[in-house]
Amino acid sequence: MGNHCVGSAKSSNASSPFVSKNPQSSTSNWSSNKSTKTTSTSLGNSVPASKTEASSTVSLESFDLDSLGTATKKFSKSKELSAVGLKSFSLNDLKIATSHFSSNSFIGEGGFGCVFKGWIDEHTLAPSKPGIGVVVAVKKLKKESSQGHKEWLAEVTYLSQLRHPNLVKLIGYCSEANNKLLVYEYMHRGSLENHLFRRGVQPIPWPTRLNIAINIARGLSHLHGLETQVIYRDLKASNVLLDLNFHAKLSDFGLARNGPTGDKSHVSTGVVGTQGYAAPEYIARGHLSSKSDIYSLGVVFLELLSGKRALEDRRSDKTLVDWAKPFLKDKRKILRIMDIRLEGQYSKKEAQTIASLALQCLHSDPKNRPKITDILPTLEQLQACKANNNHRNLRLDHH
Ligand SMILES: Nc1ncnc2c1ncn2[C@@H]1O[C@H](COP(=O)(O)OP(=O)(O)OP(=O)(O)O)[C@@H](O)[C@H]1O
Ligand SMILES: [Mg+2]
Repeated sequence: MGNHCVGSAKSSNASSPFVSKNPQSSTSNWSSNKSTKTTSTSLGNSVPASKTEASSTVSLESFDLDSLGTATKKFSKSKELSAVGLKSFSLNDLKIATSHFSSNSFIGEGGFGCVFKGWIDEHTLAPSKPGIGVVVAVKKLKKESSQGHKEWLAEVTYLSQLRHPNLVKLIGYCSEANNKLLVYEYMHRGSLENHLFRRGVQPIPWPTRLNIAINIARGLSHLHGLETQVIYRDLKASNVLLDLNFHAKLSDFGLARNGPTGDKSHVSTGVVGTQGYAAPEYIARGHLSSKSDIYSLGVVFLELLSGKRALEDRRSDKTLVDWAKPFLKDKRKILRIMDIRLEGQYSKKEAQTIASLALQCLHSDPKNRPKITDILPTLEQLQACKANNNHRNLRLDHH
């Protein structure tokens, strides 16, 4: 296969590229999950290759931060965040680690490029042979994607500083001439998208879905709670990755950017993202705030509840939100949205609570959407109640 993706392995997706018709957002560029993403943010030119190649580990200081524009600059200067070293891999290292990007190593393809499974030594991080050392996921940027370079740099910039149990860990990168790659911890169960929507895959049981919702909210809470707030901007089922125990982590920070500062309610940006997940005010006016992420969170909650995609049919504009909202607004009909693959095996109270959170997240006015600091405790309380009940039942069983 060589060093590019297998076209036939590309999975089809219902989302389609979308260009906003609003003149104010004439720079808008939408991506389907699998199409090339382009950004029109204030991210400037990517960092000169020599700067990244010179050092074996990279900290933010080694990047030309001005080249990132305002999008990540303040974030990187925030005292709260300490730069974490990343391994600088050579292209040859990653060829060895992935058996020359062979078809056997191929995991999947997204807008950025292809993802391969690779192996590295646990301690030295030197490339090794399949089955030896630890598994990693190697994402290889499509060469023709100039915008992708900016996303690559934004991803390295953010993920080199963000460390949290619910954010995927970036281990290293490779920047050799036009070759831009990223090396992540390997998430054994792949994306939430694969588990919720793929035919033939075991449906995720309800308690696991609740856990995943909590994990996602924890990841988002970390980003929104930083001294310099980070807006993720790409929350969707395909960017939620699952480990062996279905512990969920957010991935893909190429579109992330700093939130508004002072008393500003939003930052104005070009519109990028994935159709079906983005907030209406962001699509219409490019107004980006943490509440844009909250809207996307509402969509992902709906996906967890219903097992339906944010945009089922690429030829139609009808989204999951359009379909679900009438049910969510009527207490007696709320459970009609539930995934039939659950076969009724879920707690009604928990499902109703998440459905009602989803409705609040999807409010058309961002001011009326809850903050993540309101959402997370509600979810955690559901889990705490469940743990208490289980404990009580166990005690009763003993009597
Ligand atoms: N760290 C990882 N561990 C395991 N699998 C991964 C990892 N990162 C990505 N993948 C897999 O690779 C596939 C492609 O991921 P990628 O992020 O490139 O695209 P996407 O999320 O589907 O689309 P987009 O580019 O719009 O975000 C995903 O389906 C996911 O299952
Ligand atoms: Mg992704």
